[in-house]
Amino acid sequence: TEITWSAESAEKGGYAHFTIKEIYEQPKALKDTMTSRIIPGEKIRLDDIHISKDMLTNYSRIYIVACGTAYHAGLIGKVAIENLARIPVEVDVASEFRYRNPIIDHKTLLITISQSGETADTLAVLRESQTKGARVIAITNVVGSSIAREADDVFYTWAGPEIGVASTKAYLTMLVAVYSIALHFAELLGTEETSYLEEIKKEMLTLPEKVAKILKDTTKIEHFADKIHGEKDVFYLGRGLDYQIAVEASLKLKELSYIHSEAYPGGELKHGSIALIEEGISVITSLTQRELFEKMQSNIKEVVSRGAKVMAITYEDNKDVEKYSDEVIYIPNTMDIIAPILAVVPTQLLAYYVSLYKGLDVDKPRNLAKSVTVE
Ligand code: G6P
Repeated sequence: TEITWSAESAEKGGYAHFTIKEIYEQPKALKDTMTSRIIPGEKIRLDDIHISKDMLTNYSRIYIVACGTAYHAGLIGKVAIENLARIPVEVDVASEFRYRNPIIDHKTLLITISQSGETADTLAVLRESQTKGARVIAITNVVGSSIAREADDVFYTWAGPEIGVASTKAYLTMLVAVYSIALHFAELLGTEETSYLEEIKKEMLTLPEKVAKILKDTTKIEHFADKIHGEKDVFYLGRGLDYQIAVEASLKLKELSYIHSEAYPGGELKHGSIALIEEGISVITSLTQRELFEKMQSNIKEVVSRGAKVMAITYEDNKDVEKYSDEVIYIPNTMDIIAPILAVVPTQLLAYYVSLYKGLDVDKPRNLAKSVTVE
């Protein structure tokens, strides 16, 4: 008999592309990354991070440095560490950080994030910072990678091999990493009530199931992808952690669909971008930060009144959003601080389906490389 399958299609395990396979592997990736680290009733266990309370108290600053999607995980890491552990954090892209003469000494803690562990600029920042006395924690998905080997401390994400050039499951596990480190630091320093930290840990453990629920029915997302696939410009809006999601969502759309998009903080809209909002422009937004719902709602109304079509992602009990959006994608309720892990998933699916509607090479978008090992 004739062989009708290729080694490659066998590797995709029945999925049309690696990218969608990897999106669907996210519940497992999250679970694997949390197992043995987050255990209710126990302190966070980070076996490869050897930082004591005294050391942590001695650091005057934390930098998180990375590139691309990993940088976007860093943006959320900043919010998590600052909120839970009350240590100031600066986030920068590696290629900028290197050349801006940042203040680095033995009181500096650097966290580098890199799926591959081989990105040239990130690796260079690690080396230069260590020379100046900084301690380096690496968050990476590849065991034995250069960044993992050279860092002082390591947090391995257990996303499994990621083949799709645009990062999906690795990003989600990077979020688990930054939240775990934030919780760990908060426990070391005693900056938050134990009961609150426990609540976050318990809730994190429910996220694999909640992501699986989002992945069960993608009809509305496919429908919206069909609607926008011919567009030239798309806007992403958000406030608070929803802005950090918007930034990653916008990158995913650019990478996979070649549609130009911009992410804007809701409150900044009136300082420029609103000039571009006209009849028929698509605006994608998420509302997961309950304190900011009202403010975000007025931003959405501002764009709707200028003719924008809006797709909103929000909690399943926030039905109000239907009143002023064209399409609402519901995600299970969760704690606002960890909501990005859920809210980003529909935006990955959207980018994937837009790429399909355009007939593009989803797994290997033009001009992009999975790992950039030259400057
Ligand atoms: C490349 C990839 C991106 C990735 C970035 C950083 O640009 O195309 O998907 O986010 O590198 O890669 P890293 O391996 O350091 O996370």
